[in-house]
Amino acid sequence: MPARNLHLNLFIHGRGHHEAAWRHPSASPRALTDIRYYIDLAQKAEAGCFDSIFLADTLAAGDDIASAPRIWLEPLTALAALAGATRRIGLIATCSTTYTEPFNLARQFASLDHITGGRVGWNIVTTWLATASGNFSAQSPLSHAERYERAEEYMRVVTALWDSWTDDAVLDDRAEGHYARPGSIRPVNHRGTHYQVTGPLNVPRGPQGRPVFVQAGSSETGRRFAARHAEAVFTAQMEKATAKDFYADLKRLAAAEGRAPDQILILPGLSPVIGGTEADAHRIARELNELTDPEVGRKRLSGRFGGHDFSHLPLDKTLSPEDFPDPALVEAARSRTEVIVGLVRREKPTLRQLLGYMAGARGHFVTAGTPEQIADLIEDWFRDGAADGFNVMPPVLPPMLDAFVAEVVPLLRKRGLFRNEYTGATLRGHYGLKRPSVPE
Ligand SMILES: Cc1cc2nc3c(=O)[nH]c(=O)nc-3n(C[C@H](O)[C@H](O)[C@H](O)COP(=O)(O)O)c2cc1C
Repeated sequence: MPARNLHLNLFIHGRGHHEAAWRHPSASPRALTDIRYYIDLAQKAEAGCFDSIFLADTLAAGDDIASAPRIWLEPLTALAALAGATRRIGLIATCSTTYTEPFNLARQFASLDHITGGRVGWNIVTTWLATASGNFSAQSPLSHAERYERAEEYMRVVTALWDSWTDDAVLDDRAEGHYARPGSIRPVNHRGTHYQVTGPLNVPRGPQGRPVFVQAGSSETGRRFAARHAEAVFTAQMEKATAKDFYADLKRLAAAEGRAPDQILILPGLSPVIGGTEADAHRIARELNELTDPEVGRKRLSGRFGGHDFSHLPLDKTLSPEDFPDPALVEAARSRTEVIVGLVRREKPTLRQLLGYMAGARGHFVTAGTPEQIADLIEDWFRDGAADGFNVMPPVLPPMLDAFVAEVVPLLRKRGLFRNEYTGATLRGHYGLKRPSVPE
């Protein structure tokens, strides 16, 4: 059996994933609207031979903007700039199936695949954030089930658009005056429940055929969607045991869809506070925690549950699952609410403690330790059926990315887990994914 390769994605988010990272003295002095900030991070990740970087997105301003910077550059626009500043690393941008016309999305990603030379990935989201609907002329947000139902049809439309040109459609034959091969560009003629799209796309097929499909919904519906479509899956898991269950379940669901399990990579979030010594790492973690504002966390918690009011809960009250709406009925970030209520059931934290955990990386796995300890953890999850790699979420940027690249990556290489240099030129190549062909 060929050796499995570990995959690493850098999730760029604010000045780091810790809620208070933007205030930490070691965080970047650059503005979050300065493209040089993102270029610097992408180049650092590329120097460490990461497979990819990822830009998340939401479609409404946060209501806590006065006390927390919830801003970034629009991902597709930023990605085009990053394309010119990097050479090998994959570039993944988020775009919403609920609030983007399929033709626009297919055209933008096909263009980006050309611009990047085949390095683009699409994080397929249905947009859980309830307040987004107010920005798109919608009276009320769609339910969780409706969003996923529309997304299924959406995938058929965008895939048909990317397949509407064959790979060899463009002849560009100046002598004979033939620009394109007759019959190689076909209409889509989609007439569905939610979308009517004639096609074909007005951009030739990109180097990867279509962008790499990334997905990050982990509810039952989200998993089924991922099993059908996703080639890489981001997921928030607070412990190895749940990560292993998720991994096994998704590989099984993908196999049931007739897919090869190695064509769907599972990348749990990992937010490592790295210190020269364990004491150092814990000191940095403490410094970050001391800068958090529990009221910012309380608002965020409310957003995850679709606006549920937690204002009456005292910070030092021990929580029980009854303090929360039933996740099965949450229309917003359902799987994240499952993670939160699961933690409350297991550990019975106070609200202050829960908000402390969530401040770390919003419900992803957070750990503090030496480079050796972080490498041990990565190796253990990778070898023990919990992960194909990690969505690395540095708590503070750039210092914790610098530490990861300088100190953790060499250990992973020494253990034969991670590449010494890029061997491929596309994101599909880095991830070991097949290139889709155009159906006859
Ligand atoms: C690592 C990660 C990144 C995500 N990025 C985004 C994002 O950029 N925009 C968004 O609307 N949702 C994002 N999500 C949320 C999921 O796409 C999904 O909407 C949410 O988990 C609710 O669906 P579910 O209940 O099926 O999990 C992200 C989730 C994870 C785990």
